[in-house]
Amino acid sequence: MAATTVTKYSRAIRILHWVLALLLIGLLIAGTIMHNTADEATKFAILKLHAPLGLLAGILLFARTYFAFTQPRPAADPNWSLAVKWGSKIIHILLYVFPHALVGSGIATMVASGLGEILQSGQTAPWPELSGIAFAGAHGLFAKLFLASLVLHIAGAIYHQAIIKDNLIARMMPGK
Ligand code: HEM
Ligand code: HEM
Repeated sequence: MAATTVTKYSRAIRILHWVLALLLIGLLIAGTIMHNTADEATKFAILKLHAPLGLLAGILLFARTYFAFTQPRPAADPNWSLAVKWGSKIIHILLYVFPHALVGSGIATMVASGLGEILQSGQTAPWPELSGIAFAGAHGLFAKLFLASLVLHIAGAIYHQAIIKDNLIARMMPGK
């Protein structure tokens, strides 16, 4: 992940950042509703969107991870404290790791629980018992960890904008 003298992220990284932000936040909300509702028809209706959009997120994440290694990124401001520099670095890495883990554990849950076959056969009942499926537990845990890192990330962006006032967000925004 090379740091160079560029002042903005590349166009591809900027577009993928915001498309994935919308998609991943939507998946978090849809997944939580699906998990918490008792109505099986609603669970299946949401899963029919959640699973393919989750797979789409997986493909975009691969592209994004590839660009993260191959395209130049703006360096950390030399005025940043070590805590800000390393804190943001670690959170950025987690914001790649947890979404990948969510895609993997989501697919594994579909296979291990039989939900994949149920959907393919066109049935919308019964919803299988997921409490004994370790992948489903992992998916729920990764979702919580992802949400926690996202909250810190957004808090960091607000801190830069409102307290440091370095207009950091311009690095992720359209324009030259
Ligand atoms: C699911 C949602 C999000 C994810 C997964 C995410 C992930 C990331 C990652 C991994 C980076 C590091 C750059 C890279 O390698 O691509 C980054 C940078 C950035 N993100 Fe997000 N982000 C999300 C949402 C947001 C939101 C809602 C905001 C604004 C409030 C935001 C503001 C920024 C800013 C300003 C940077 C640039 C930081 C810098 O230049 O050091 N992100 N984001
Ligand atoms: C990065 C993308 C994804 C995000 C952010 C996400 C998010 C979530 C969340 C928040 C839940 C509720 C979990 C809980 O509270 O225990 C959930 C459940 C679920 N997700 Fe995902 N998911 C993603 C990708 C996928 C994929 C790719 C699949 C399958 C192909 C999938 C299949 C499922 C299934 C079957 C459940 C139900 C599990 C349960 O109710 O315990 N997810 N997801």
